[in-house]
Amino acid sequence: MHHPLNLENLTNEVTRLTQNLTSYLNKEITEMKQDIIEVKGLHNFVTYVDKNAEHQIMQALELLLPEAGFIAEETENTRKGQRYNWIIDPLDGTTNYIHGIPLYSISIALLDKNEIVLGVVHEAVRDECFFAWKGSAAFMNGQPISVSKSEKLNDSLMATGFPYYDYSKLDPYLEIFRHMMKYSHGIRRLGSAAADLAYVACGRFEGFYEYGLSSWDVAAGAFIVKAAGGKVSDFNGGSDFIFGREILASNALIHEEILSIMKKYFTPKY
Ligand code: IPD
Ligand code: CA
Ligand code: CA
Repeated sequence: MHHPLNLENLTNEVTRLTQNLTSYLNKEITEMKQDIIEVKGLHNFVTYVDKNAEHQIMQALELLLPEAGFIAEETENTRKGQRYNWIIDPLDGTTNYIHGIPLYSISIALLDKNEIVLGVVHEAVRDECFFAWKGSAAFMNGQPISVSKSEKLNDSLMATGFPYYDYSKLDPYLEIFRHMMKYSHGIRRLGSAAADLAYVACGRFEGFYEYGLSSWDVAAGAFIVKAAGGKVSDFNGGSDFIFGREILASNALIHEEILSIMKKYFTPKY
């Protein structure tokens, strides 16, 4: 007989792991040298820190749940689990990291078939660990968190990311950006999508949107936003936001308002 996973325990184990890793990331950033940075693609960089961190995470997760496979940013052709797969970004915010900007995070989610069942986003510099598991509330460093109560975009602070290689949607993206600039408290670009989502979950941002992201950028953060009472969708209001390369996350209350702006500028995919 297969025992159901104890997701609360597993989440706690994962937060212990990210805790150790934040020390590694924060130590290495002070020793970072420009010449060890590799170019992975257009404006896309990777360092030995990303790779080492991912290796450490995968080894530790393997011990926690041997049957699980991996979807991990820096490792190609990873083993896929029949039922469980970890979705991992060992260092979200590499561009910040290599420029010495103190905002980057670790993102780990567990996929059970097609459903995320736990998520951990650990912002390393402020040492803020955001987490949730299936059926739980959302937490930051052990304290319950929830999304903000603002009801209008006009009373909201937004976050986004700037696409750095796929410029196909740049025109509508910039129209939306212009709208946000004029009709909100402002718009931030932190440089870590996982942190952006965690900040929506704890009410610092009312909303976050970006396109061109991968599953490891958003899987954990999106799960935590929902556990904190928020809403997450693609740009059409649909549910294809983990592998679909577009995401809108909000406090739920302003979701429709943002979607209507998106629909105005983006030609629907369907
Ligand atoms: C990046 C960050 C950034 C987002 C980029 C991502 P990386 O992840 O999440 O905020 O704008 O699109 O690729 O490469 O630093 O792991
Ligand atoms: Ca990332
Ligand atoms: Ca990364």
